[in-house]
Amino acid sequence: MKIVQVASELFPYVKTGGLADAVSALAGTLAERGHEVSVFLPGYRAAVDHPLAAGAQRTLGLRIEMGDTFMTGEVRSFSPAPNLTLHLVCREEFFDRRNPYGTPERDYEDNHHRFIFFCKGVVEAMRFMELRADVIHGHDWQCGLLPLLLRHTEQRYGITLAMKTVFTIHNIAFQGVFPMRSFYRTNLPDELMGIDGVEFYGQMSMMKSGILFSDRVTTVSPRYAREIQTAEFGCGLDGVVMTRADDIVGLINGIDTDVWNPATDTLIPANYTVDNLTGKAGCRADLLKRSGFDPKFAGPVFGMVCRLTEQKGVDLVLANAEFFKKNDVRFIVLGSGDKELEAGLRELVAAIPSRVSLSARLDEGMSHLIEAGSDFFLMPSRFEPCGLNQMYSQAYGTIPLVTRVGGLADTVIDLDHNPHAGTGVLFHPSEEGVKAGLDRALTLFADKTSMAVVQARGMHSDFGWDKTAQAYEDLYGDAI
Ligand code: ADP
Ligand code: GLC
Repeated sequence: MKIVQVASELFPYVKTGGLADAVSALAGTLAERGHEVSVFLPGYRAAVDHPLAAGAQRTLGLRIEMGDTFMTGEVRSFSPAPNLTLHLVCREEFFDRRNPYGTPERDYEDNHHRFIFFCKGVVEAMRFMELRADVIHGHDWQCGLLPLLLRHTEQRYGITLAMKTVFTIHNIAFQGVFPMRSFYRTNLPDELMGIDGVEFYGQMSMMKSGILFSDRVTTVSPRYAREIQTAEFGCGLDGVVMTRADDIVGLINGIDTDVWNPATDTLIPANYTVDNLTGKAGCRADLLKRSGFDPKFAGPVFGMVCRLTEQKGVDLVLANAEFFKKNDVRFIVLGSGDKELEAGLRELVAAIPSRVSLSARLDEGMSHLIEAGSDFFLMPSRFEPCGLNQMYSQAYGTIPLVTRVGGLADTVIDLDHNPHAGTGVLFHPSEEGVKAGLDRALTLFADKTSMAVVQARGMHSDFGWDKTAQAYEDLYGDAI
């Protein structure tokens, strides 16, 4: 198949979260499986300057209609792997910035214009490059207008650029809602401004557009597919999602085993496998040392890596400060984002510096070391569309402690509910739930035999992308 993937993040060029990992692995796996894959990404500074993009060539000058003006840009293309071409949609004014969406405090004020330009750039590039696809697959709100812009251009020029459109919801909490007055920049017909179109409480919603107007809608776990049809998890779009109830499917992400594999990982100090865990002990000692603790510490080590947001339940951990004060454990956190949550974590560190450490930054190497060196990985999310770290943890022999939501509940088997197959500890997303989860971890840690069994089960689990890529292939084929 000829497949076009469109996303606002792509590992290793630009990443703020799991979206980057997921799209990169999906595109890469589809290419390895013999499909001809093109990926479109905004030409952010980080992507343009990335060593892998050194060979990128200007393939096209863009002149994009944006309301009553035209804006210029260009496409730079290169092929990082066989069957895979990456196209960067560039315009310095929009994308030559430090971050993809803004600072932790505030989104850029022109994000609607940036991503309207991006989607239009994709469609125009396909038209001028004569790139014809079987499927064009957009991810999250930044690509939500794609199906409308695509069909509009196809009608205008009497051509078919892509047979089918697919839209994946990675996180319905981020919706791309902007003042309706910016809709004119899309040059789409005015009738789309109504309730059957992009209108959402008087504003325009790019996520709603993706959900309503794509041929197929998917999300990243079966449970999240059900959850977002409820008021509790739908973030106001549950009614819109329900209109697609017959065809929305949840396909669980895999993990990229070229990047996240303890046997070959180059970002950790020692490699290991399920049959020989000596290297894991080395990683543990290194993690403790780097976090300012005694590398010989024998008690339980808890790790946590996440964006500091309400979604990730950081406040639920802070509410359990007593646990860390009472028990001789180590708690090592890597995270950046919300300043208040960061301040809360700093207070915890200040209160018990001998037990808790915080690295408040983005650090790919440290994220691998925490996965490898911890005994338990804490992920108390309030909601989690898929979640990747709980799968990385299992692959690295680190036992996940997770809430019973979304993709977490779909990828971790609770040890109490299923002692013969359990791979981790599940709990309710609340202060009490987290407390119960942490207490259960202590009990498990004291039982070395059970620890080893659970650890081995996780390491034997298959979270590779092949199964999921196959499911996407089937979905594309079915749509066509
Ligand atoms: P989300 O996309 O909601 O943030 P996921 O679990 O899908 O959650 O993916 C998060 C990804 O981002 C993981 O690869 C994780 O290791 C990474 N990550 C999160 N915070 C950091 C950080 N501070 N430094 C490095 N990597 C991080
Ligand atoms: C989003 C979700 C996360 C998911 C990731 C990749 O960022 O918050 O749960 O794993 O997308 O699909």
